[in-house]
Amino acid sequence: MNDKQNSKSMFEAYGDLADEINTPILIAGRNLQHENQMDDTIADICAKLEPNKNCRLLELGCNIGMLLNPLSSLVASCVGLDHHKLVGFFRDSGTPENVALLEGEWPTTKVEGSFDRILVYDVLHLVPDAGTALKFIEACYDILEPGGRLLIGDLPNKDMHKRYQSTEFGQKVAADYDAAREKERANITNESQQRTAILSDALFDNYMDDAFIFSVLGSARKSGLHAFTLPQPDTLPFCFSREDILIARPR
Ligand SMILES: C[S@@+](CC[C@H](N)C(=O)[O-])C[C@H]1O[C@@H](n2cnc3c(N)ncnc32)[C@H](O)[C@@H]1O
Repeated sequence: MNDKQNSKSMFEAYGDLADEINTPILIAGRNLQHENQMDDTIADICAKLEPNKNCRLLELGCNIGMLLNPLSSLVASCVGLDHHKLVGFFRDSGTPENVALLEGEWPTTKVEGSFDRILVYDVLHLVPDAGTALKFIEACYDILEPGGRLLIGDLPNKDMHKRYQSTEFGQKVAADYDAAREKERANITNESQQRTAILSDALFDNYMDDAFIFSVLGSARKSGLHAFTLPQPDTLPFCFSREDILIARPR
């Protein structure tokens, strides 16, 4: 735990981005250099989640809809849940007809009904600790339909990061990334720095490691669900240090 005991949560800090930042990709927590990787990210999510026209999809932590907007055209209907300021931004920018938006924080805010697909992408490391994260995931089990899939994607596993940074290749990729970030910070309006400042003032302690990943697999399997870890293709922004968990309820 860091020493910012009185700081706001990452959930609240993301909400503030909707007020303070105008560039959508920055509000969604990505960097400007990742804009051209969105199509690959969505393709990878689809390969794992397998959305189809009969599905009801829930995205927990939908932010301003960078994923939910394109995914909505592949399913029957969707629900997105996030901070009221982000949901407001999403709504104001025009929500597809089959998307319903809910304001609040999972799992305190309940969602009605059950779902064939649930997406939690680039979200789980933002909750305060491993216990809270496990409760977040376990609350999804009850609303997952038979044959349904829950994708918990883009997990920044610290142990995976260490393994990759221990190689010469990993050190080079990390150096290239740092150089690109420096350039980004120098070249654009101050929004990138402003975003960094807002988020770095919030309470963040990345608890995510191999033990946590195994605990999620164990929890799902003990609950009668299939659970797998999946790698990301190297077209994705942090593919060498992030992985996904796919949970499926047997039919
Ligand atoms: C890095 S953004 C990713 C947004 C989106 N999933 C995407 O990939 O474009 C993380 C989002 O998770 C949301 N979030 C964090 N904790 C949450 C919780 N407990 N319930 C709902 N949303 C949450 C934040 O407000 C933020 O919008």
